[in-house]
Formats: sequence, C-alpha cells, structure tokens
Amino acid sequence: MSTPDGSAEQGFGELGRILVIIPTYNEAENIEPIVARVRDAVPEAHVLIADDNSPDGTGDLADKLAANDDNVQVLHRLGKEGLGAAYIAGFRWGLDNGYGVLVEHDADGSHQPEQLPRLLGALRDADLVLGSRYVKGGEVQNWPKSREILSRGGNIYTRLALGIPLQDATGGYRAFRRETLEGIGLDEVASAGYCFQVDLALRAIKAGFKVVEVPITFVERERGQSKMSQSIVIEAMVRVGRWGLAYRAAQVRGLFTGKTAANKGG
Ligand code: GDD
Ligand code: MN
Repeated sequence: MSTPDGSAEQGFGELGRILVIIPTYNEAENIEPIVARVRDAVPEAHVLIADDNSPDGTGDLADKLAANDDNVQVLHRLGKEGLGAAYIAGFRWGLDNGYGVLVEHDADGSHQPEQLPRLLGALRDADLVLGSRYVKGGEVQNWPKSREILSRGGNIYTRLALGIPLQDATGGYRAFRRETLEGIGLDEVASAGYCFQVDLALRAIKAGFKVVEVPITFVERERGQSKMSQSIVIEAMVRVGRWGLAYRAAQVRGLFTGKTAANKGG
C-alpha cells in the first residue's frame, strides 16, 4: 500500500527488522482482521500477539494465525497484567530476537495499519514516533464526548504537570528504534495501565532521544469492549502527578544550582 510520501514503496530496510506488537485481552472478534491488515500494509513486518490468556479464546485464534504465517508469533502470558506489562514483555522478546524497530499497535481497529508506513517513514529521522490524534491532520472518530474529554484533559494535565511539549502523550500507536528502548530503562517501568504510555514518552525525552508526533486517525472500536477502567485512570493521575512534582522540584533546585530540569540536565 502506498502513502503520499511514498515511504511504503521505498521499504524500511535501513531501520532493521520490524516487529509490530499487538497486545490482546478478549479480542477474538478483532484479532484476525487486524493481523491481516498489518500484514497487507507492511508485508516485511513481523507481528507478535501478546495475549494475557484471554478467556474468549483469542490466544487459540492467534496460534492458528501463527501456524499459517511465518511472520506471525504469539507470546502467551499467564493472566491479565495490564497493557504496560504486556508491552514490556513484547519489547523484551523483540529485543532478544534482534528486531530494529518495535511498534505498539492496538488490536481493536482503533489504530489503522494503513498509517503504519507514515510512522515508520518518520522513524528514519527520529528515535521514537508517536501517532498523534491532536496534531494537525490527526483525528478521533466515533468517540463518546466523555471519552474525548478524558483524553484531551489527560493530555493537558500531562503537559502542565510534566512540561513536555507533546500534544498526545497518552496515545498508544508508536514506533520505537531498539536503541530507544535499550536507553530508557525498561526494567524500572512500573506503570501497568495506560500511564505506561506517558511513562515511556517522558523517559525517552529525558534520555535525550528525538521524539516526533505524526497525525493519525483513531477510530473507536466497533467490536468487543475497552479495558479502560476507573482504576487505570486513577493510576495515571497519581503517577503523572508524582512525576510532575519531581520535575517541579528539580526546576526549583535548578534555580539555585544553575542546572535546568529539562532533558538530560534533570
Ligand atoms: N495483553 C493484554 N493485557 N492486552 C491488553 C490488556 C491487558 O491487560 N488491556 C488492554 N489490552 C489490549 C486490548 O486488547 C487492545 O488490543 C489494546 O490493549 C488497547 O486496549 P483498549 O481497552 O482497546 O484501550 P483503549 O481504546 O481504551 O485505549 C487506547 O487508547 C488510549 C489513549 O486514548 C490504547 O491505545 C491506550 O494505550 C491509549 O492510552
Ligand atoms: Mn481501544
């Protein structure tokens, strides 16, 4: 599939082998179509489904896909441990297996595989590419107003608390160079739920990596259920607030020592 900038035609060979990690918990209706779309959109990419022993049999469906396609693999995990934990396990697997690019991709159709060439194209000149709903050209389709307010509010809160210049720090469609994951201390990431996304973006910026946002179209799922819960939102607010306080404290210290809190200096 081609993109306006022609990135798909040129291939992504110079970035190294590409692994698209798809975490799943009860995505039986979604897993087959999404894997097929990823395989069509970027045929050279490999897919790793990270399933948390879904009660609806998603893991068995994933095994069938893997049996029929050498580019698809499955990481079976023991039980539901949250999106962040599933991604960290997937990243470790990908790093151990020599991939040069590791992509985060939801299973439910919210992320468009056809936009993956755009993310990969931008990664040629960046260390981490964030698919962004809130930069020019980005959009959200079919979200209830309440969810949009939560997401936009979460991003404003994050920007103010952390002082980072990102429009969409909570989004979950991303492409990392392996060196970025190796350089941000994955072992210390404790965030289980969605604040995992903020955590990784913040770590990448602090470590001095180049983080860019490219516009995406986020489409609310049509099948299955979101795993977003009140406890996930509360975890995010508490953790982001804590990181924010640490950042502000470093800024205040900087007033006295002459060092800045931003980037490597903090
Ligand atoms: N393995 C595993 N374990 N997968 C999970 C878990 C888990 O505990 N929880 C969620 N997932 C998978 C889902 O099956 C889906 O493929 C993907 O992670 C996203 O889950 P959703 O429940 O659909 O998330 P969402 O639509 O509410 O949130 C999306 O947008 C947020 C920003 O608005 C995600 O992309 C979030 O990462 C993002 O912060
Ligand atoms: Mn979703």
